[in-house]
Amino acid sequence: MRIVYEPCQMQKIASKYRAWGKTIGFIPTMGYLHEGHISLIKQAKKDNDVVFVSIFVNPTQFAPNEDLDKYPRDIKRDEEMLTKEGVDFLFYPTVENMYSDNFQTYVTVDNLTKVLEGASRPTHFRGVTTVVNKLFNITKPNKAYFGKKDAQQLIVIKRMVEDLNIDVEIIGMPIVREKDGLAMSSRNKYLNEKERKDAICLYKSLQKAKELIDNGIKDTQAVKKEMENVINAYSIPKIDYININSLTTLKELEEIKKGDTLISLAVFVGKTRLIDNLWI
Ligand code: PAF
Repeated sequence: MRIVYEPCQMQKIASKYRAWGKTIGFIPTMGYLHEGHISLIKQAKKDNDVVFVSIFVNPTQFAPNEDLDKYPRDIKRDEEMLTKEGVDFLFYPTVENMYSDNFQTYVTVDNLTKVLEGASRPTHFRGVTTVVNKLFNITKPNKAYFGKKDAQQLIVIKRMVEDLNIDVEIIGMPIVREKDGLAMSSRNKYLNEKERKDAICLYKSLQKAKELIDNGIKDTQAVKKEMENVINAYSIPKIDYININSLTTLKELEEIKKGDTLISLAVFVGKTRLIDNLWI
């Protein structure tokens, strides 16, 4: 695997592959890789001639009170994992290489970013869409892979790609879970032993929602109430939000609509904010 640090060098390499008629699969990440990322890489390997992965902890998507400085990093371990998976290029830029002192251009997606994660983290998606746009311009992928765990991120990026006619196909991939159901996330590393046990409450509440819906319950208030009860049975967690929205507009739903429902939640387990979701 070749590691590339400079955006212009990565761009030249990508242009060469495109000129040779090769297809590029791209997985943007913030590193500290886990099985969720690996599932994206495996799919990209199947679908494309070459696979590019980026590791960049993007400062513009973190608010000043968030965990930018302590976000977990282990580049050696990541490199080993990527090499083992047969990734062709790792793009690993510095903050200075991505954001010059004179940087002043941002991409924003409007309504979709005002709810759910966007309501709790108002500057987050502007940072995500800006950096993903930059990364697409640098790596020139035919296909780019994102996990459904960050459901809103995936929906927002699809919107941006369609609205701005960006020539890339966005592939959403299923959530990968630990054996007990906890969704894989780099932030799980922050959990102590007790919190790790309590963190299962997110998955348990989603399972409860699924059970209710499978039994014909349509009223979203009733589903949310039951989910809340499941979480409140655990001692540490504090609920940030539980929401049930349309998958296309992200507007809140009063009734479950099969094929167009996203149930999502954010919960503080200790100091760690975890998210999870279910696509109905
Ligand atoms: O999902 C992530 O890891 C990040 O939000 C992304 C897409 C790499 C942009 O920084």
